[in-house]
Amino acid sequence: MVDNLARKILQQARAEGYAVPAFNIYNLETMQVVLETATKMQSPVMLATTPSTVKYFGHEFLLALAEKAQEKYEIPIIFHLDHFTDKEELKKYIRAGFTSAMIDASRSPYRENVEVVQEVVSFARDYGVAVEAELGNVGRGEQEGTLTEPGEAGDFIRETGVDSLAVAIGTVHGIFKGKPQLDYRRLEEISRLVKIPLVLHGGSGLADEDLKQTIKFGISKINIATELKEAFTRGIKKFFRENPEEDDLRKYLQAGKEKMAEVVAEKIRTCGSEGRG
Ligand code: 13P
Repeated sequence: MVDNLARKILQQARAEGYAVPAFNIYNLETMQVVLETATKMQSPVMLATTPSTVKYFGHEFLLALAEKAQEKYEIPIIFHLDHFTDKEELKKYIRAGFTSAMIDASRSPYRENVEVVQEVVSFARDYGVAVEAELGNVGRGEQEGTLTEPGEAGDFIRETGVDSLAVAIGTVHGIFKGKPQLDYRRLEEISRLVKIPLVLHGGSGLADEDLKQTIKFGISKINIATELKEAFTRGIKKFFRENPEEDDLRKYLQAGKEKMAEVVAEKIRTCGSEGRG
């Protein structure tokens, strides 16, 4: 098997009891914030790109930037394909050169999920690419998810050979309506049965204490998106309230970057990944 950096840094995080933060990026500025902040804090980092982000950027640009980022910054940097539901689209980007990929068949019945993931894992092996899959289903905003069954999780990783597993324990993508109720017992049980790195989706809106608790129970990668978008937008809105006539976009984007950098730094501290890069 070809050595894969994503696999290596996640396994190390699981073994040593911290989490690698995975930040969703949207454009060059959000990418710069993540890379610069993670470098300052010497943290390994994953930059997550969804199907719509890859289309927005153009995958050739993204890959070229990924290569340059790896040359310029001296920390482990992974550009990760997040939440791909179309396996053919995912294969296309694996062929193009991404090294870490999530195939998301979590809305399909168990057997179908297994079959899709098996196919992607077998394909990805030839390219030395690490694969993440999801079992159970993490909700989205108002839409409820389905919690991961621990016994099924054990079978799932044996059957698929996947590198990391996203689990549903009560988080949602986006901001929580009301107080989040995380099922730590379930996570602990999954963690006992599944020794590969576990992934927490829907990291925004959770208290630091909750995030830290999930890491204690085996979470080795924490995904953050919504809080970053909110911070970036908040920075720009504040800038325009104070400078309504400004049209130098480097100035207002800078205001967004500064707000977002605060969130990135805070999440790196919470993940315990500072100094691990
Ligand atoms: P949030 O938007 O809740 O941070 O979730 C991010 C995520 O899980 C991306 O896969």
